[in-house]
Amino acid sequence: MSTAEKALAFAAKQLPETIASLKEFARIPGVSANPAPNAELAKSAKHCAEWMTRVGLERVEVLELPGVHPYVYGEWLHAKDAPTILLYAHHDVQPPGRPEFWKSPPFEPEERDGRLYGRGVVDDKAGAAIHLAAIEAYLKNGGLPVNVKLVIDGEEEIGSENLGDFLAHYRERLSADVIVLTDTANLSAGLPSITYALRGITVVQLEVKSIDHPLHSGMWGGPVPDPVMAICKMLASLTDENGSVSIDGVGDDIAPMDPVVQQRLAALPYDEAVFREEAGLLEGVELCKGNGGSPYELMWHRPSLSISALEAAPIKGASNQIVDSARARIGVRTVPNMDGMAVAEALSAHLKKRAPWGVQVTTTIGGAGNWWLTDPKGPAFEAAERALAKGFGRQPVYIGCGGSIPFVEPFARVLGGVPALLIGLEDPLCNAHSENESLLIADFVKAIESAIHLYEELAQLPR
Ligand code: BES
Ligand code: MN
Ligand code: MN
Repeated sequence: MSTAEKALAFAAKQLPETIASLKEFARIPGVSANPAPNAELAKSAKHCAEWMTRVGLERVEVLELPGVHPYVYGEWLHAKDAPTILLYAHHDVQPPGRPEFWKSPPFEPEERDGRLYGRGVVDDKAGAAIHLAAIEAYLKNGGLPVNVKLVIDGEEEIGSENLGDFLAHYRERLSADVIVLTDTANLSAGLPSITYALRGITVVQLEVKSIDHPLHSGMWGGPVPDPVMAICKMLASLTDENGSVSIDGVGDDIAPMDPVVQQRLAALPYDEAVFREEAGLLEGVELCKGNGGSPYELMWHRPSLSISALEAAPIKGASNQIVDSARARIGVRTVPNMDGMAVAEALSAHLKKRAPWGVQVTTTIGGAGNWWLTDPKGPAFEAAERALAKGFGRQPVYIGCGGSIPFVEPFARVLGGVPALLIGLEDPLCNAHSENESLLIADFVKAIESAIHLYEELAQLPR
C-alpha cells in the first residue's frame, strides 16, 4: 500500500472522530462581529490549536495581535526537498441571524438527511476540518509528502482587516510554493469546483436625519421632510431598472469580459428552473437582467449592490410619526479593475448629491476588500484537477465566486504571486450567512479524500 492509500484508509476509519471534532468546533459561537477581545473566539482558536496538535502539526500557536481576533498557525516541515503548501481556512463565523428561523439551534450541530446543520459548519469550519483530517491521515501513517503550513483566520467574516499587520509580522513563517484556500463553493452538490475569481466588497453605512426628535405626523406632516422617504429616494437611485449598479463615477474602470472567461462560463451547466429553486425565488419574481450578461456573469464578473440593513422604526409599536432618522448599510461587490476605496467615496458623494430637502447625511466607510482574478493554468491547477477528480469521481469545473475573501489578493501578492487554489464546500443549498446553514456530509468526505490526493499531487510540482 502506498502512503496515500494508507492515508485514505485511515481517514475513512477516522471519519466518525473527524465529524465529532467538527461538531465540537461548531458548538463554539465564534462570531467575529462581536469585537475583540472576545472569549468565544479565544475558545474557538484554542479548539483549532488543540486539534492541530492532536493530528501531529508542530509549532502550533495562537497568533495574537492586540485588539485582533486570534489567527491559529501550525506546520509540518519534514518533507525534504518537497514543496511547501500554505493551507488557509477561517474559524470565525457570521452571527446566527433570526433564532426562530433555525430548525435546530445554530450552535447545537445536528445531522438531518445527510447534512450537518449549524452556524459556521460549512463557512468555514469544514474548510479547516478537511485539512486537519487529511494531515492526520498522513502523519499517523509515516508522514506527509509535502511541507504544510496551516493558517486559520479569526476575522475573515469581518474583512480580515488586520491581515496587513499580520502578514508583516509573520511574513517569514508564511512563505510557500502554493496556497490552498478552502472557503469557496461547489457549483452544485457533488460537482468539485475550482474558483478562479472573487469579487471585492466595499461597505458604506448611511444615516439620514431631518429633525432632532420624532414628531406627530398629523401635527407636522406636510412641510417637515420625512427622513425615511429621503433615504428611500437616495437608495433607489443606486441601481437602474435592470438592477445594474448606477453610481455616479463608478464603473468606468470595469474591465471588459475576457473571451476566455466568457467561454468558460458558457461551458458550465445552467438551468434557470434549478437556479430559481436553489435561490428560493418566489413565484412571479423575475431575475434582474443587469447589463445583459448571464446570471454567472452578473454574479461573478459584474458589480452588484445590496442593502444588507435598513432601519428607521419597527412596525411593532409604531405610531403615527415622522421619525427623526433612518439608516442603511450598503454593500457593493466590485470586479476588476474597480478600486474599492474609490467606490466608497463615489457612493458617498452620489448619496449626498441625491439627498432631497437638505436632510443631513452622514456616510461611514465600513471597509473594503479587493477582488481577485487568476488564470487557472499551470502544474498546480492541473494537480488540483487530478486530485478533485479522484476524490469526487467527477471532472472539476472552473467557476467564479461572487463573494469575497480578503486574504487572497494581498496574500498571493506578498508571496510573490504563487498559485492560489480555491476550493470548498459551500453548495447552493448550504445557506451560508443565512439561517439553517449546513454542510453536505457526502461532499465533506469526498473533500477529505481530495485533500489527501492533492498533497500527493502537489508533491510532484516542479520547484
Ligand atoms: N466563504 C465566504 C466567501 C464565499 C462567498 C465563498 C460565496 C463562496 C461563495 C466568506 O466567508 C465570506 O463570506 N466573505 C465575506 C467577506 C467580507 C466580510 C469581507 C463576503 O463575501 O461577504
Ligand atoms: Mn468563508
Ligand atoms: Mn462567510
